Amino acid sequence: MAGNWKMYKTAKDTRAYFAKFLPLVNGVADREIVLCPPFPNLEAAVSEAQGSQVKIGAQNLYWGKEGAVTGEVSGPMIHAVGCTHVIIAHSERREYFNESEEDVTRKTKAALEAQLNPIVCVGERLGERESGQTERVLREQFQGGIGPLAPEEFAQIVIAYEPVWAIGTGKTATPEIAEEAHRMIREEARRRFGEDAAAKVRILYGGSVKPENVKSLMAKEEIDGVLVGGASLDPQSFAAIVNF
Ligand code: 13P
Repeated sequence: MAGNWKMYKTAKDTRAYFAKFLPLVNGVADREIVLCPPFPNLEAAVSEAQGSQVKIGAQNLYWGKEGAVTGEVSGPMIHAVGCTHVIIAHSERREYFNESEEDVTRKTKAALEAQLNPIVCVGERLGERESGQTERVLREQFQGGIGPLAPEEFAQIVIAYEPVWAIGTGKTATPEIAEEAHRMIREEARRRFGEDAAAKVRILYGGSVKPENVKSLMAKEEIDGVLVGGASLDPQSFAAIVNF
């Protein structure tokens, strides 16, 4: 159950959030909880989450370890702050920062090298879905970005299916639509990495997940978790999603 705060909240907001959120998920032990705040709040989030089962992730990383790359942040830096996860290739990164499938592979490998668990995002745009290209897009994203990983690298990633048309729009994919896409992704995983690896990889659904719809999504066999944007900004609503 992962939350992506995107470009919201300051360090002060982060501390206030945890004060409200932690008591609401206290004792939850049968599911992983990850929150991904903006870079400047990671330290505050890690320190607030200490002693709880909540893990902290970044929303992006650069693939180099260090260097003259103004404005970027590396895997070892994110790990040093106490993070355990990092989101890779969110559709907003693909769209606004032109991240390519090559970037996905490089960033995923860099994250693993820095001992971070990558949450790798894939998903089609509205026009692609409407013109019947969903399967082709998911296949290309998988083969281009995830396919080049070594089997032992693939075994450590989490995939997030986030249809672009469902992000921040209030239009959730129906559980059936999400499940169908998850099945396509798992089928690609089976072709490239084999039955066992495909059965084990966790695929999260993201796109307008709310306390009201999480249960029906999670009821689907193929949906192993959720990646929540807007509804993760409010401690009560994210706790309700976690505790669905
Ligand atoms: P919303 O939950 O706001 O639709 O965002 C989904 C998302 O992009 C999570 O990464």
